[in-house]
Amino acid sequence: MRNARSYFAPLAIGAPQPVREIPVTPSRMIHFFDPSNAKLRGKVPDMARSADVLLGNLEDAIAADKKEAARAGLVEVGREADLGGTPLWTRINALESPWALDDLVTLVTEIGSVLDVVMVPKVEGVEDIHYVDRLLAQLEARSELQRPILIHAILETAQGVANVEEIATASPRMQGISLGPADLAASRRMKTTRVGGGHPGYRVIADPSSGDARPSYQQDLWHYTIGRMVDACAAAGIFPYYGPFGDIKDEVGCEAQFRAAYLMGCVGAWSLHPVQIGIAKRVFSPEVDEVRFAKRVLEAIPDGSGVHMLDGKMQDDATWKQAKVLVDLATMLAR
Ligand code: GLV
Ligand code: MG
Repeated sequence: MRNARSYFAPLAIGAPQPVREIPVTPSRMIHFFDPSNAKLRGKVPDMARSADVLLGNLEDAIAADKKEAARAGLVEVGREADLGGTPLWTRINALESPWALDDLVTLVTEIGSVLDVVMVPKVEGVEDIHYVDRLLAQLEARSELQRPILIHAILETAQGVANVEEIATASPRMQGISLGPADLAASRRMKTTRVGGGHPGYRVIADPSSGDARPSYQQDLWHYTIGRMVDACAAAGIFPYYGPFGDIKDEVGCEAQFRAAYLMGCVGAWSLHPVQIGIAKRVFSPEVDEVRFAKRVLEAIPDGSGVHMLDGKMQDDATWKQAKVLVDLATMLAR
């Protein structure tokens, strides 16, 4: 596979672990654009210079009467736009929709050699990934493509969450999984009209009977799902991503949500507006001071074993692995 290197492999010290090789391109954000919009198509080279990944969206937010124009617009981008090496992804329509088959056939046939990843929405189980996997294999063989197109699943139904571990390992093409908080909220019958982020009503409150006057704090509505998704992805050796944050003007809320996801193990998030590209770059790159400290940990324990004190903090085999995660990420992003 192109650029094959395992992201999670650095954790596998000691006994060798069966970590599958996957292509690594740091993608702190997956930047969405509407390929049916000619003005946006003209901006693709600019967007490609600032984003880690560009994704031509064909699914939700593209009206039914624009589906064909979006597909054709993405073919035009794949053929003509100067992407300067930035990976090109697409989000196809849902598999039960009337458009998904033509999305795959047209895109792989017309621009398969420049299409890196197909994002599949509303994945509910392995059967969805197997269907896309087989179809991609047939289309790639027909077009004599030299490298496999990868699959990224969106976790956005209750059924999908129930099957997330199987989805993560459903095919060697699996690149990663994103949380889809809007569809997932609807699927679960959560009572929110927001796209991602918190909710003012979902709080930890002080106990009034104890006279506790401390302020209450918002909890992360997505904590449980992000935790499951991150574990499923780490176990499978693929990438977990936070999905969209819909309130573009709420940069503080977006940064807080992205940061919670980053700290829990996500490698990136979606950006729906250029301002979110900057937020994602800031959040999903490790902080300089933390990387400096992590490097000191690695230097203090050269063989990764034993116990050592650093600035009064205990370091051992496990903290060595934690430090390596940060240093590896920083090194990867610096390339
Ligand atoms: C994304 O597709 C979502 O439903 O949040
Ligand atoms: Mg969705």
